[in-house]
Amino acid sequence: MKNIVILISGRGSNMEAIVKACGAGGWPARIAAVISNRPDAAGLAFARSHGIATAVVDHQAFGKGDSARVAFDAELQRVIDGFDPDLVVLAGFMRILTPGFTAHYAGRMLNVHPSLLPAFTGLHTHRRAIEAGCRVAGATVHFVTAELDHGPIVAQAVVPVLDGDDESALATRILALEHRMYPSVVRWFVEDKLAVDGARVRHRGGEPQMFS
Ligand code: GAR
Repeated sequence: MKNIVILISGRGSNMEAIVKACGAGGWPARIAAVISNRPDAAGLAFARSHGIATAVVDHQAFGKGDSARVAFDAELQRVIDGFDPDLVVLAGFMRILTPGFTAHYAGRMLNVHPSLLPAFTGLHTHRRAIEAGCRVAGATVHFVTAELDHGPIVAQAVVPVLDGDDESALATRILALEHRMYPSVVRWFVEDKLAVDGARVRHRGGEPQMFS
């Protein structure tokens, strides 16, 4: 049985989708813990109500600056490792991570980012996609490396950008696909279905890695 630790910062709807998919059975894995950097993250209540261990490592207690970032990541790593994780899942975890932290979880940490990477790393991805006149937009699940919003891409979800779309309409359409894509990818990982070859990740059984 593999241990999955999920990191959130807020609403936690992707975490919910993963918890529900795992709870439906058939996974060789369990959700060992949900951890937030914000004590008021709404998703914590959902995790608790499902009998999942939760923890908070409040980044604000560490102050600002590079040394605070390193100290926060060290404490976060200590708490995560207390749950003996096989996989760490970033699900709306809004922190820039230090290279030491990402190296520690190399090959066993996934992130979902709301754009078709490598386009639109960082924030306000949907607004920027609309402003750039994109005809498609989406989300990406990738392995986490030291560089923000980079790393081998496991799956992408693609939606059309419709005339009249605002940021919120586009975000809603993409989020619905994130909720299908991310649980699928997490399941593939715990079932050892993913083969990583440099930047390229292949599902050994040929499952489609594009969602639409
Ligand atoms: C999701 O749309 C996710 O792609 C995005 O935050 C949202 C979290 O929603 N992640 C990032 O922007 C990471 N850079 P959720 O808390 O309801 O899952």
